[in-house]
Amino acid sequence: MKICAIILSAGKSKRFKSSIPKFMHNLSGLPIVDYNINLLKKIKKITKFEIISNKENLNYFQDKGYSPFKQNPVDGTGGAVRQFYKKNNKYDYYLVMLSDTPVFDYKVISDFLNKSVKTNSDISVLSQNISNPKGYGRLILNNKKLVRIIEENDCDNIQKKINLVNTGIFMISKRAISNINLIKKNPNKKEYYITDLIDICNNKNLNLMTIVNSGIPIQGINSVKELNDLEILSQNYIKNKIMESGVRIYQPETVYIENDVSIEKGVVIEPNVVIRRGVKIKKDTIVKSFSYLEDCRIGKNCSIGPFARVRPSSDLQDQIKIGNFVEIKKSKLSTGVKINHLSYIGDTVVGKNSNIGAGTITCNYDGRNKLSCLIGDNCFIGSNSSIIAPVKIGSSAYVAAGSVITKNISKGYFAISRPKQKNIKNKIK
Ligand code: UD1
Ligand code: CA
Repeated sequence: MKICAIILSAGKSKRFKSSIPKFMHNLSGLPIVDYNINLLKKIKKITKFEIISNKENLNYFQDKGYSPFKQNPVDGTGGAVRQFYKKNNKYDYYLVMLSDTPVFDYKVISDFLNKSVKTNSDISVLSQNISNPKGYGRLILNNKKLVRIIEENDCDNIQKKINLVNTGIFMISKRAISNINLIKKNPNKKEYYITDLIDICNNKNLNLMTIVNSGIPIQGINSVKELNDLEILSQNYIKNKIMESGVRIYQPETVYIENDVSIEKGVVIEPNVVIRRGVKIKKDTIVKSFSYLEDCRIGKNCSIGPFARVRPSSDLQDQIKIGNFVEIKKSKLSTGVKINHLSYIGDTVVGKNSNIGAGTITCNYDGRNKLSCLIGDNCFIGSNSSIIAPVKIGSSAYVAAGSVITKNISKGYFAISRPKQKNIKNKIK
């Protein structure tokens, strides 16, 4: 059984009103088109997978390592499939997905595919019941049998009330797709609609069916507003999965978590936290309110925030404590480090159990280059110290508050670098 999957991604995104096509916009940290690409890669039964692109966006896909099929002219969803089929006609089934209608759960599609093949269906349409069907193609059933799909613009007032809609996902057999040339241009839009294949195949008595999605809704997006609505859905999907695995999220509706994060059970996330792609958090850590984490690793039993920022390529080991207004960038904090208030630590390695006082800044940029610092184990860095990179501070060193450190400090040494205090009698009355 040879199954070819295609993602239609050649549309002009006119209704999206953006300088870039809608499928490139991020949805919970991933370009929208990546959802269906990643999903199809998981389905082993698919023999070939191709993206359909217009000529303007070919580079985008090529840069990601794909060889898209060029749709030219861009003449509708039916046009896309028709042009593709003309050059690729040796498959038993064609699974059609849309780049602007991401599916979160790959099982929905693998079940749909299996059921279509098992029942020998010629066209299966993945549909769903929704309360506001505006914008979607409506399924017309006759005695519970699918006979046609009518697009929003072509619906009369009664048809507009139909709640059973087309998600845009089709499985089409070899027999059914061979009729693709019979699709005529829609008189209003002057485009070929793939949905018109249903009517054509129904008239030829082919075996049509619809499978109704009863899981997480599948939403297409045509406008920025619809993207925002979809973001809520995708956020709920991500956070529900994380909470089901044993992570406590207080007021989850205020927390934003992107795809590709790993958060172990026992972690607590307080309200208004942002966790972006690539973050890994080990068990029993607490992330307090208003913290912002990106592509970093945080060990177990840590306390992060409130108001902490951990930037990419940072590695925080276990039992770390970073408090309010602490920013960590591309640094390693070894087990037991404490940085409780108002600090910037960048391009630095901090050894075990060191304590970094309030207001400590690593000055890692000289205007041209990024330079790094090394702070050993068990160090004490007094408040409001500036550590000017590159510098090495040996283990168990002690830096007096308010120091500006420009030279290396040997193991166990005490360093102080601050003007002497003068007490002068105040003559002003
Ligand atoms: C489409 C369906 C509609 C369905 C909805 C689900 C048609 C005619 N309508 O409507 O029944 O309910 O999706 O979201 O199929 N595309 C191409 N080449 C083209 C035109 C479009 O590849 O020439 C791609 C677009 O990039 C997009 C997808 O096909 O990813 C759907 O196109 P769009 O114009 O958004 O269709 P809808 O009006 O949303
Ligand atoms: Ca759409």
